[in-house]
Amino acid sequence: MQTIIGTDVKAAATWLRAGSVVGIPTETVYGLAGNALSEASVLEIFRIKNRPSFNPLILHTHSVDALPDFVSQIPQAALVLLRTFAPGPLTLLLPKRSHVPDLVTAGSPLVAVRIPQHPLALQLLARIDFPLAAPSANPFTYISPTTAQHVAAQLGGKIPYILDGGACSIGIESTIIGFDAEEQPILHRAGGIAPEAIEQVLGTKLLSPSASALPVTPGQLRLHYAPHIPFKLGNLAEMLAAYRPERVGVLAFSAPLPTVPLHQQRVLAPSGTTEEAAQHLFAAMRELDAMDVDVILAEPVPPQGLGRAINDRLRRAAAERK
Ligand code: TXA
Ligand code: MG
Repeated sequence: MQTIIGTDVKAAATWLRAGSVVGIPTETVYGLAGNALSEASVLEIFRIKNRPSFNPLILHTHSVDALPDFVSQIPQAALVLLRTFAPGPLTLLLPKRSHVPDLVTAGSPLVAVRIPQHPLALQLLARIDFPLAAPSANPFTYISPTTAQHVAAQLGGKIPYILDGGACSIGIESTIIGFDAEEQPILHRAGGIAPEAIEQVLGTKLLSPSASALPVTPGQLRLHYAPHIPFKLGNLAEMLAAYRPERVGVLAFSAPLPTVPLHQQRVLAPSGTTEEAAQHLFAAMRELDAMDVDVILAEPVPPQGLGRAINDRLRRAAAERK
């Protein structure tokens, strides 16, 4: 199959109406999108991504007004979050309506819903009369894509079209929030909205999934976001002692290591902000993974703002392969 990369929203809509799966830009990462209400299209997403079907998909729609078509109930706290953060990098777990296929939710009575902020994604969603199921457009366990070229590098030849919306402005996936029986908010995945910002808007602390009776988000697998080259997380200078500097790649937060050639290093945030680090994270990991080095050494970033979400990605990338 020939994969076309372009900016034609109409063409993307035509492929989707025909049941095909296409690459789409969002403000977080690129998605691998198909008609969420068509079991055939959803199966095609799982097949192309090589994703186990026990791992559910996020349903994307164009506006808060459209949500009641897919969810049966929206807690007050969810409405507050939607008012503040939608469209944007926020995903909510809410009770699904029966016509949302069980395949999308992997059998769960809850569906993950999100309104993306990217203008091309919104134009596309407004043009079609069905919502889009879209996981990140990477093969299962590999690094998420933040450009159309990243999508083409792994999925070229497998999908007919990639809608090119440029580099993603946020750079890491959406923050996933659920609610317990008392409608208290639960942080299921740290992501593009800082947990502090959510806590401030709601005036309450986010619970961790283990503190609630609900099952842990199935996609939070230990090995994820993983480069092919061995990836280690820790203190850079200490880890470097075990390697020859010419054979390492370095993923640094705000300043490079003086002892490693600069072209083998990526600095995530010269400005020192976690927002900038998030924006560059996945592209930098891909660039390092393409280098002729034996190991990639990375350091954790400060845990404030988007730092927690970034450190979560780094830890999973560094997890041992079975
Ligand atoms: O920013 C994002 O959220 C991107 C863009 C494309 O929108 N999408 C994304 O999708 O990150 P994916 O499939 O790579 O990650 C979705 C996560 C998985 O960890 C999955 O297990 C969880 O959301 N999830 C989806 N539906 C769920 C459900 N019904 N219950 C619990 N977890 C769910
Ligand atoms: Mg993903």
